[in-house]
Amino acid sequence: MRLTLKTLCASVIQSTLLYITPAAHASEVEVLHWWTSAGEAKAASVLRAGIEQRGHQWRDFAVGGQAGISAMNTLRIRAISGNPPLAAQIKGPEITEWARLGFLRNLNDIAEAEHWEDKIPAPLRDVMQYQGDYVAAPINIHRVNWLWINLRAFKDAGAAIPHDFESFFTAADKLQQAGYIPLALGGEPWQVATLFDTLALSVMGPEHYQQAFLDFDREALLSDGVTKSFSLLAKMRPYTDSDNLGRNWSDTTRLLIDNRAGMQVMGDWAKGEFLAANQQEGKNFTCVAVPGTEQAFSYNIDSFVFFKPNNAEERQSQTDMAEYLLTPQFQRDFNRYKGSLPIRLDIPLPNGDTCAEKSRQAFLYAEQHNTLSPSMSHGLSTTRYVQSAIFDVINEFFYNPKQTPEEATQALYRAILSAQA
Ligand code: BGC
Repeated sequence: MRLTLKTLCASVIQSTLLYITPAAHASEVEVLHWWTSAGEAKAASVLRAGIEQRGHQWRDFAVGGQAGISAMNTLRIRAISGNPPLAAQIKGPEITEWARLGFLRNLNDIAEAEHWEDKIPAPLRDVMQYQGDYVAAPINIHRVNWLWINLRAFKDAGAAIPHDFESFFTAADKLQQAGYIPLALGGEPWQVATLFDTLALSVMGPEHYQQAFLDFDREALLSDGVTKSFSLLAKMRPYTDSDNLGRNWSDTTRLLIDNRAGMQVMGDWAKGEFLAANQQEGKNFTCVAVPGTEQAFSYNIDSFVFFKPNNAEERQSQTDMAEYLLTPQFQRDFNRYKGSLPIRLDIPLPNGDTCAEKSRQAFLYAEQHNTLSPSMSHGLSTTRYVQSAIFDVINEFFYNPKQTPEEATQALYRAILSAQA
């Protein structure tokens, strides 16, 4: 092997990791995920319990932070060093990347035996496959375009729940006058991008959004729709708190729970956080679609891949886990805590969970009308390279009020082009 800086780094990393990371025991299932907030941890415990019930030992490989970006960086190092976990939470087009590099186990035998074709909604099956073979198991459907409302703050401020951007800004003004942070936003690139993402879906509509953020069509990316989305993002700036740099999403949701903020735009994992804090939907909090996206569904699917096993025991424990993920019990219990919809549409939703009901109706509507939109900010429309170039531009714009929406639109197009090169 020719020694280059790259191979040298890789071998240093390898020897370090082999030292600090003992090899997995047979029948021990090491699972990489990033579910470390209160609601997420409750959901993860359902996964753990099922694996243990099947006679395996759970080995937690939780790497929280940045909605999975930290976990993916850690995973890359482990995989390069030849010691990947048995299972890992990987989503969207990243699945294809790992499969193309030959890391993933083919799951066709399980998919066939367990009738995945009948259990996974048709438009979402492709994401789980590489060249027609199943290489990932989906577990849920998160809707990203939600606006979370702290009902106590709204009542106190005499604000009405927004149904369009005019009423959004009226409510934001009232909340501000009453001493609340109108819009809680954590200052991490992916959180600002999540806000922008939902605004773009609203302004551009699902079809045009997909031309820009799925197809990366030049005309769509340089269109007025993108510029208007940046303008709307800028308009929201003064309603967020200035103390938000580096604050994670669950601490941001906490601001609503602790009655310090009025609203947050976030996927429905935020609902898991409200519920874990014993908040009640309709009493303490509620959810409405981000204005202008009532009929749209920005989707984010959590899924697991399985790295090629070293022996029959490892293979069996992976099979057991993959089978468990689509059982009615796991689907029901995990998603209740997680805030998401079960991937299986035949699983009943928790009684009285109106956010989940609204979400399922929106999903079915969008599925029927062909307007399901893969979320750019959650890695469902593109790989992390392109995504992180987009995040950079959105954040530069958000934190630099001197940059105009027109300049940001140009910068976005250029950044995407160079990331794709
Ligand atoms: C994941 C969710 C997770 C959220 C915040 C998203 O990208 O899909 O499962 O709860 O990040 O950590």
